[in-house]
Amino acid sequence: MKISPSIISSDLLELGRQVDLCTSSGAYSLHLDVMDGHFVPNLTMGFDMIRSIRSRTKLPLEAHLMIERPDIYYARFIESGANLILVHVEAPVRLASLQNDIISHGGKFGIVVNPETPLEYAYPFLERCAVLLIMSVHPGFSGQKFITSALEKVSEARHYIDSKRLETLIEIDGGINDRTGQLAVDAGADILVSASYIFSGDIEERIARLSSLVHGNGQT
Ligand code: DX5
Ligand code: ZN
Repeated sequence: MKISPSIISSDLLELGRQVDLCTSSGAYSLHLDVMDGHFVPNLTMGFDMIRSIRSRTKLPLEAHLMIERPDIYYARFIESGANLILVHVEAPVRLASLQNDIISHGGKFGIVVNPETPLEYAYPFLERCAVLLIMSVHPGFSGQKFITSALEKVSEARHYIDSKRLETLIEIDGGINDRTGQLAVDAGADILVSASYIFSGDIEERIARLSSLVHGNGQT
């Protein structure tokens, strides 16, 4: 499994060393939760933090933009070192032109769907979309309980993406631990985002445990 640790739950005073541990543990990418206090009721990191993380690791960086105006800020996230820009389908912007702008600026485009949002809203953008991120919590905070209905969305997305022969990877974000991660893998997810599970224990061991999940192991 591909694992993308979300540094929102890292020890910020130990961030450099914890980024090193994610890198040496074979994480697929680092997940950066950017919140603006408007789109979600919380505030997190900005460009300077992303630049510092960029200088510390060669891992791909994915910026999960939980902000009102990704159309205004996307370029600065790319320039700060983010490789993949994850934009919410619920953001009040023209998504088709933002998708073009991100790609022509040299970034990869990803689309995010909240728990209450129908998956079909993302379908028109999947053709040139590196990642479809399915939220399994309401965005804003780490440490929330996994919303089980997200699993049906993952299976539906797997079916749709395979039937259209698209290359979009399916990622899931929120409440992922070794148990819910197994359910997500069985439903067809390609990438697991995890924050509190990874950073509340032995980081290397938890990344290894999530990485070792394989399709079918959760079935009896
Ligand atoms: C929620 C964020 C998630 C979250 C994950 O708004 O997008 O990345 O912090 O945290 P855990 O894994 O603790 O649910
Ligand atoms: Zn996230």
